[in-house]
Amino acid sequence: MAGRIPDQFIDELLARTDLTDVVASRISLKKTGQNYSGLCPFHNEKSPSFSLNPNKQFYYCFGCGAGGNAISFVMEHDHLDFVDAIEMLAKDAGMEVPREQGAPDRYEQNAELLKRLSESSQFYQQQLTQHPDKKKATDYLSKDRGLSGQIAKVFGVGYAPPGWDNLLKKVGTRAESQEQLLMGGMLIEKKDQPGHYYDRFRDRIIFPIRDSRGRVIAFGGRAFGDEKPKYLNSPETPVFQKSQELYGLFEAKQNTPILDQILVVEGYMDVIVLAQHGITNAVATLGTSVNSQHIRKLFKLVSKVVLCFDGDKAGRAAAIRGLEAALPVMQDEKQIRFLFLPEGEDPDSLVRKEGKEAFNLRLEDASSLSHVLFDHARNQVTLGDEEGEAQFARNAMEMIREIPKELTFRSVLIRQLSDQSGIDKETLGNTVFKTRRQAHPPTVDTHQSEQHPPHFDTDHPHSSYYDDEAPVGEYTDYPLSSGSSASTGYPKKQHTTQKPFGKKPFVKGLFFNDEPALPPAAPSLSRIKQASICLLLHPHIAKDIDLPDPLINQANEELQLFCKIWRYFAKYPTKNTGHLIGEATDNTTITSVYALLNHKDATTKQKITNAQQEVQDMISSMEKNLGLNSSIERLKSRGNESIKDNSSKQELRHLMDLIRQKKH
Ligand code: UTP
Ligand code: MN
Repeated sequence: MAGRIPDQFIDELLARTDLTDVVASRISLKKTGQNYSGLCPFHNEKSPSFSLNPNKQFYYCFGCGAGGNAISFVMEHDHLDFVDAIEMLAKDAGMEVPREQGAPDRYEQNAELLKRLSESSQFYQQQLTQHPDKKKATDYLSKDRGLSGQIAKVFGVGYAPPGWDNLLKKVGTRAESQEQLLMGGMLIEKKDQPGHYYDRFRDRIIFPIRDSRGRVIAFGGRAFGDEKPKYLNSPETPVFQKSQELYGLFEAKQNTPILDQILVVEGYMDVIVLAQHGITNAVATLGTSVNSQHIRKLFKLVSKVVLCFDGDKAGRAAAIRGLEAALPVMQDEKQIRFLFLPEGEDPDSLVRKEGKEAFNLRLEDASSLSHVLFDHARNQVTLGDEEGEAQFARNAMEMIREIPKELTFRSVLIRQLSDQSGIDKETLGNTVFKTRRQAHPPTVDTHQSEQHPPHFDTDHPHSSYYDDEAPVGEYTDYPLSSGSSASTGYPKKQHTTQKPFGKKPFVKGLFFNDEPALPPAAPSLSRIKQASICLLLHPHIAKDIDLPDPLINQANEELQLFCKIWRYFAKYPTKNTGHLIGEATDNTTITSVYALLNHKDATTKQKITNAQQEVQDMISSMEKNLGLNSSIERLKSRGNESIKDNSSKQELRHLMDLIRQKKH
């Protein structure tokens, strides 16, 4: 990581930045009284519900609930991460971003390498317009593949002419830059002449792979004909890990006006051709199956991800891997869909054949995750009658249990499964919990995949011929090389994955039930905060809620904020959270309300139908606690001496037990 940006600087930057300028340079605003309003850029709407308060320097959308300050606006609007948003605002404010001492990040360390990769990309693009044989490339792109010059430019498509040292001569002029090109996978060292190199990409169409900030980090090169490999890709380098990147993500962010869903396809050409037809929100994996990291990354940007697969058997198998990758990173309010294409088609061929509208209809019609999950569970069944039904339920549960426990989505699937299988929810639910703990040691959680790719990261079904370092054609035909590789085959696909839905011996009653149930994981938000969010998102319930005095008088900060929110909405039943924020006079309240609204779990409260019950439950439990605490205080205040009598002792013990239980 690069050095931390000091908090002071962020305060200073916010003080010097006018949110009105930041927003007005991106969307059109109209002055309405003290505030500004406009069409919200974060959801589709026809009448303006986005409002900006210039005095308090915050914005809020009454339609979708988006809200925050200049930094969050730039992050959301420009799809930047925190640091990039700061850099962007600092640039506009003419400020230099200071860093606290820290190790340079991957990009700073590799700044030179990135420069060489960017120069390489420029070189290949130039060749497409300047090389004497450029016609071969431009004809291929325009005639064979139907690409316009414009779209080729958007994606930086280039041409690596035939020859062993075109790039080497142009970009690798110094020993230093040769080394960087080597490190970046652009050059290959001659086996028999250490220190001598030749170009990796020769006689190919070149697709630069950019990271999500637009920096060129690798390349894919397509052969003109049937040469193998069809696509040659950069090897893994310090700046390129193919299982983490998504081709076209940067371009999708740049060119899609409202990026609210992303389509994941298989190939470079699919992405480009879709974009040419106006479907600018497609990205491609780089020869691997879509994995959990990909999906997590996409969910940070959009709420809906559509995974696109061929309609054939390999496509269905790939969809199951996509399903497995999605389950552990699912979130309420996020959606995964599966689009199966007709056999023999890919998005490239299909959109050219049918056009954008028809393709969009297919997208709208894509299968839901539950559909694919239950279908798969059903397809795995080998037994008839009740036993088959139990097998189906178990198959489905094995997948459902991969979904984080706290999600409403998980309960919905369990309910659906219960309806379909006739096994009651509780049996299904309990069973999951116990088997999950058996199947996965407690250390395995979804965060882990941050460091360790999850076991879903299987290679692409055709990975055997995608081998980038394949010796064939790469070296043996090199004119100066005397060494030739004996190997003509490609590495076998590695089966590192355990079979997730492998058949287990059938046990009546589905699962063993002998393991003691463990307490559920603590919710990440306190009950009071959850109740506050319920009020913020469903303000109309406040008027039907009574708050007992002892609670109102508590010193607890969380509770005070809750009371403040409740009081406001109980008094003004027609007002909403935007009003509350707009009218609040102290910054602490505003900041705390934002913090609540921005909490990652807040969205789950948006759709609940029993918000009032949840708030009321919190109040009763607080009341009970208060009662307990005051009883304990009463007993304690009498001093140890006075707790001699058995009934007092028993009362205290009982109270302590109750409190202990509550803590769990
Ligand atoms: P496909 O073989 O499905 O080809 O590869 P495609 O995308 O339809 O390509 P065109 O239309 O024939 O040009 C899909 C993706 O798999 C990876 C590439 O990322 C490619 O875009 N791939 C494929 C390789 O890495 N190497 C290969 O040899 C083939
Ligand atoms: Mn294709």
